[in-house]
Amino acid sequence: MPPSKFAQPPPPEAPPEAPPESPPEATSPPEVNSPPQGAAAQPPALPGGTSSSLATSLHVGHVVTDADPKPPVIYETLRHEDNVLEIEKFNLWYGPKQALFDVTMGVPRGKVTALIGPSGCGKSTLLRSVNRINDLIDHVRIDGEMKLLGQSIYARDVDVIQLRKRMGMVFQKPNPFPMSIFENVVYSLRIDGERRRGVLAQVCEESLRSAALWDEVKDRLTESALSLSGGQQQRLCIARAIAAEPEILLMDEPCSALDPIATGRIEDLIASLKGDYTILMVTHNMQQASRSSDYTVFMYLGNLIEYGPTIHIFTNPRLRQTEDYITGRFG
Ligand SMILES: Nc1ncnc2c1ncn2[C@@H]1O[C@H](COP(=O)(O)OP(=O)(O)O)[C@@H](O)[C@H]1O
Ligand SMILES: [Mg+2]
Repeated sequence: MPPSKFAQPPPPEAPPEAPPESPPEATSPPEVNSPPQGAAAQPPALPGGTSSSLATSLHVGHVVTDADPKPPVIYETLRHEDNVLEIEKFNLWYGPKQALFDVTMGVPRGKVTALIGPSGCGKSTLLRSVNRINDLIDHVRIDGEMKLLGQSIYARDVDVIQLRKRMGMVFQKPNPFPMSIFENVVYSLRIDGERRRGVLAQVCEESLRSAALWDEVKDRLTESALSLSGGQQQRLCIARAIAAEPEILLMDEPCSALDPIATGRIEDLIASLKGDYTILMVTHNMQQASRSSDYTVFMYLGNLIEYGPTIHIFTNPRLRQTEDYITGRFG
């Protein structure tokens, strides 16, 4: 694989308060009648600058257009990560309305990366773009690139079914299939034609153990998955996703339909999956992001604003806008 551009050293002398001058590099929308970049949803100017001492520790994104007030702040440490997923200048339009603006980021292997930001800022849109679920929505157009392990997600010849097999998706509302607990977990293996009872049983047990559900269901594997509680159903969906050995697990507010106890168990589970799985998770719950994730991406009005280690984003964000959101001043 060629070296990733995410691993390139930063441009020299590029402090955040003085981004390198570049001509207004209009992102060419895929069709002529697209609105100019930034026209539909203009973020307010980011307040303040960052101190010059930060200049060496920050990776400064490119300047997109004159209308884009500040480049995103992406922390230096992320450049040392091995990215499973790379998103590059990704734009998305729902009809005439632009929902994502030049999003550029990597998702590091074996880490939990949380996407946060106010409702409607594009978190779900970004997540759904990764496994191309947005393809199913009429009038969606995209521009830019996403790569899974270096392979284009949007190239013309991509087999979307095969692509989605390499990604696990966990939705807000648990969606177990109307079949037994056992059959839910081994579903992907069945689809691939696996029939050996021993293999299926082993994968079932390992996946349920990883999903912290084995002890609760080991004596009722043949019962309907629909008989489980909401929290158990969500852990079952995570077990089902894990069983397929995905390169990346995508989770869109996986706890939003659960009570606090079930939520706590899922958060513990997500934390325990770190290292073994790469997880990109949307959450609107600040505590969840701070407890479960290694890295946090703050998005606002379709733009990536700040991306860094969760501990930094939550205790000492670089940008005032991030701080205002984290501390509940808006959103
Ligand atoms: N299917 C859709 N059709 C048109 N607009 C959409 C659709 N889904 C989302 N949007 C719009 O895109 C923007 C981002 O939405 P979304 O990704 O759901 O945000 P979030 O998950 O951060 O709350 C919002 O303005 C929303 O109204
Ligand atoms: Mg959403």
